[in-house]
Amino acid sequence: MKIAVVGTGYVGLVTGTCFAETGNVVNCVDVNKAKIDQLKKGKCPIYEPGLDVLLQRNIKEKRILFTTDLKAAIDKSDIIFLALPTPPGEDGSADLKYILNVAEDLSEIIKEYKVIVNKSTVPVGTAEKVAEVLGRKLAPELFDVVSNPEFLREGIAVDDFLKPDRVVIGTSSDRARDVMNELYQPFVRQGNPIYFMDERSSEMTKYVANSYLAMRISYMNEVANLCELTGANVDLVRIGIGSDSRIGKRFLFPGIGYGGSCFPKDVLALHHTSKQNKYDFKLLDTVMKVNKNQKKVLFGKIKRFYKNSLKGKKFAMWGLAFKPETDDIRDAPALELINEILNAGAEVTVFDPEAMANVKAIFGNKIKYARDQYTGLKEADALLIVTEWSEFRNPDFERMVKNLKSKVVFDGRNVYSLEKMEELGFYYNSIGRKI
Ligand code: UGA
Repeated sequence: MKIAVVGTGYVGLVTGTCFAETGNVVNCVDVNKAKIDQLKKGKCPIYEPGLDVLLQRNIKEKRILFTTDLKAAIDKSDIIFLALPTPPGEDGSADLKYILNVAEDLSEIIKEYKVIVNKSTVPVGTAEKVAEVLGRKLAPELFDVVSNPEFLREGIAVDDFLKPDRVVIGTSSDRARDVMNELYQPFVRQGNPIYFMDERSSEMTKYVANSYLAMRISYMNEVANLCELTGANVDLVRIGIGSDSRIGKRFLFPGIGYGGSCFPKDVLALHHTSKQNKYDFKLLDTVMKVNKNQKKVLFGKIKRFYKNSLKGKKFAMWGLAFKPETDDIRDAPALELINEILNAGAEVTVFDPEAMANVKAIFGNKIKYARDQYTGLKEADALLIVTEWSEFRNPDFERMVKNLKSKVVFDGRNVYSLEKMEELGFYYNSIGRKI
């Protein structure tokens, strides 16, 4: 099939590459010329495991092409995916200006039937808005607008796209339904379902999924805080409840708050939709409040340990990205923690396998950047673990002990066992477990 993907951000690039990988010809469009030039050379602008290999292979096979020329890409395509940003506006609502502007451009370009697919996370009613903009200049038989939300996770995006748990497609047109069904067949060979529904339910599904997952995390973070007060161990409680198939084992890990480009934005946007509809969605309000508080938990532990006197202290930080296997630092708990450390007059040397450059762009020389995970520990009063990268899980403890000034670890991700840390003689303060 012939596809155009408008927007080569995270979702657009993964979508375009994976559709090319299944034999389609994909034209990716972006207004950012520098990015398009890099992509043409096979240079991936984000760190996402496996993506660069697929990208380069499909460029070589001429199944994926990059351009800044929207018209040229549209003329060559039957299906147009919109993978554009929907940043939160001042009131928390998703800002649709990028999507609606492109819809207007499309209404000038389209001359024969196209399926226009919203891949971006967009509020309920957006498919209708896009159709309304297109319909101002185009006859109804020239287009259908479909909602097809994306459920991929950063760090495992390629796998998530190629083997989705489910595909959700919102459309009221039989013609568009057939096109989408054919397009997704290679991805559901194992029997995973494609759910067809109306556009509004499909748009809602995406927000409800992300908000539910965010709620699970906030719930477990509160449970962890209570475990600390009662002397229970949240890791054991987590395992104890996760075996109940109604609850499930996944996504129950407490930490220092959810971050990234999706959960904070999407919970806020669903909250806004509720307000717009004069519905007081109390749970969402609490999910956000709990998360805000949880981002402060690790610093609270540090402050208490040093009795509020952090001036001149030196910290080493492992992990900056909002989660492992990504260089993404949007809404990452590390950013707030660094600011708090600096405001308290302490120093921090950071290390992350992939996200250092992004953090440097924000903090510059206000903090230090370690060459590897061990050098940053030299002369540090304590180690702070902020992202659970695999390489932090089984480190050279002897080297850690040798480099650190004191055997003190504050762990926001429960990376080590309490027994191990006790055996090594560390003061070890983690989340929801005894000190
Ligand atoms: C999330 C959803 O999981 C995807 O399904 C969705 O497609 C995506 O948002 C999106 O809307 O684009 P992502 O933001 O990549 O994916 O990352 P997650 O793995 O979901 O993690 C989100 C945050 O929750 C991270 O800060 C992570 O550290 C935190 N988390 C996750 C926990 O604190 N505990 C857990 O058990 C799981």
